[in-house]
Amino acid sequence: MALRFEVLGRFNRARAAQLTLPHFLCQTPLFMPVGTQGTIKGLTTTQLEDIGCQIILGNTYHLALRPTSELIDELGGLHKFMNWPRALLTDSGGFQMVSLLHLADITEKGVTFQSPVDGKPMLLTPEESIQIQNRIGADIIMALDDVVKTTITGPRIGEAMRRTLRWIDRCIAAHKRPHEQNLFGIVQGGLDPVLRDECVRGLVARDLPGYAIGGLAGGEDKDSFWRVVAQCTTTLPEDKPRYVMGVGYPLDIVVCSALGADMYDCVYPTRTARFGTALVPEGVVKLKHKAMADDTSPIDPTCACMVCKNYTRAYIHCLVTKDAMGSQLLSYHNLYYMMTLSRDLHSSIIQGRFPEFVCKFLQKMFPKGD
Ligand code: GUN
Ligand code: ZN
Repeated sequence: MALRFEVLGRFNRARAAQLTLPHFLCQTPLFMPVGTQGTIKGLTTTQLEDIGCQIILGNTYHLALRPTSELIDELGGLHKFMNWPRALLTDSGGFQMVSLLHLADITEKGVTFQSPVDGKPMLLTPEESIQIQNRIGADIIMALDDVVKTTITGPRIGEAMRRTLRWIDRCIAAHKRPHEQNLFGIVQGGLDPVLRDECVRGLVARDLPGYAIGGLAGGEDKDSFWRVVAQCTTTLPEDKPRYVMGVGYPLDIVVCSALGADMYDCVYPTRTARFGTALVPEGVVKLKHKAMADDTSPIDPTCACMVCKNYTRAYIHCLVTKDAMGSQLLSYHNLYYMMTLSRDLHSSIIQGRFPEFVCKFLQKMFPKGD
């Protein structure tokens, strides 16, 4: 195991912890920005450090295609390649292929897909995903899982969960750097509590350094989503980090943290920035809106970020869609918002004022009580 997870404080099921990884000491609850191609679009790694990002995500699938994991390995690993001294996590690739390439097909061997480079059929096996992730060198690597949408029903959900369990043993056997990289297992099983429970028990028996809750944020209603998270967090071990994949929205992070989850990742803050949307305590501000054209206030007057200290809504309105600087400034602010939210969750749990923090968060976001 190449991590230490120390719970520093609790409030009911919520916990605030210190997660010591090979490249960085992280505080949870923690949002992890997604940098698909070895970059968070439009931001330098120095800016990411200024924002307070502790760990960022890369995607095995994208990096394996370009620049290839062999080249990253040859050049000293992804940390060095992208000049990021802090922690990294790579996702295994299966989910990206299935969600990006409609032609991907899952068999017991692995995920088969058509190469976007030359159209040739390719196969990503659990062994290969781990081998690629070993070469990339992230602090946390993810098992290859069989992911199905939560909106489908029938025997396919159970099949995917059981295949995910069979694949975890192939991932564990293929993992050559357990003292430098932490392999997390991923709980699948759709919205079925019996399948989720079987998957949790199977993964916990493998005594992995951490566990992810997968297969969510795919169009299911909030109630079902929160119920699955609540079930998994009550059955996963207390002394290991719990990571809810593909989440997301500030509200979901607050709710999942109250349910005992620790880590999150999502493209939302940076993607929505590129569409001209800023995250603020009241919800969102759409910088494209005509009303912004002569608004001399910052994006969020209560935000301490570099963008809010130096630029007006009017200026960003003028840039957005016209110049890359518009989405860069918005990405900076949005990630700062997510990191502030993570820090506030952490400190409010430690200081025993988590309920007050949640109440205030909800009052600002839903002032009419809806
Ligand atoms: N990203 C969001 N959800 C998932 C999931 O279920 N599995 C993997 N590997 N990545 C994800
Ligand atoms: Zn700001």
